[in-house]
Amino acid sequence: MRTPFIAGNWKMNVEDADALAFIDAVKDRIPPKENVESAVCAQAVSLKDMKKRAEDTELMIGAQNVHEEASGAFTGEISAPALTSIGIQLVIIGHSERRELFNDSDERVNLKLHAALKHGMTPIVCVGESLEEREAGRAVEVVRGQLQKALEGVSAQQVDGIVIAYEPVWAIGTGKSSNPEEAGEMCKTIRSYIREQYGESSAEAVRIQYGGSVKPDNIADYLADEDIDGALVGGASIKVESFLSLLEAAS
Ligand code: G3P
Repeated sequence: MRTPFIAGNWKMNVEDADALAFIDAVKDRIPPKENVESAVCAQAVSLKDMKKRAEDTELMIGAQNVHEEASGAFTGEISAPALTSIGIQLVIIGHSERRELFNDSDERVNLKLHAALKHGMTPIVCVGESLEEREAGRAVEVVRGQLQKALEGVSAQQVDGIVIAYEPVWAIGTGKSSNPEEAGEMCKTIRSYIREQYGESSAEAVRIQYGGSVKPDNIADYLADEDIDGALVGGASIKVESFLSLLEAAS
């Protein structure tokens, strides 16, 4: 049985004081991690203090990006060793905003994934098609292609600990959520891909999140699907009560 995993992706929307106030407000109300694993991924500047503030809770704190190199002349970037040195073990890789706005190609997503794994981090690898690709009937082909490139060189042992987030680009921040059946079908396709490449036990182990306009009032519809193991949530993860409702629905 896979434990559900709800992760908030705060993007560039929460500043330090609010991030810390959020932790104070939720920390005694996080469900046990046997029921649901929970995380918020915040701006890099807040991670160290958030991690300290959350230390007696089961809420994980994650980063939103990592550079593929461990050190070097990469102004403005953040390395996996720098993240793990402050206790950050979780990182989002290949979010569609990074792919679109910051040139995170499939190849870079793969390098970043290897960097995260090498340093013992848990990556949430994002895949998802655009509206144009879906309308052209290419959604499955696009997602399978992204997976194939992202996972190149990743071993079966490593893949078991990876989280994959299926986020159709057209459903992100638009309020236009994918219907749960379509989302479930794509998550099944993702699991089948893992089965083909890595076998049954990896397919059973990998957790697959859905992301795109998930809210307290629709999350149960997604989680009801056997192939959806949680959610990667933007807007609805920022407010305390809304985040706690998402966790409650999953636990
Ligand atoms: O990574 C989560 C995200 O892209 C979905 O955002 O605001 O539609 O939940 P939102």
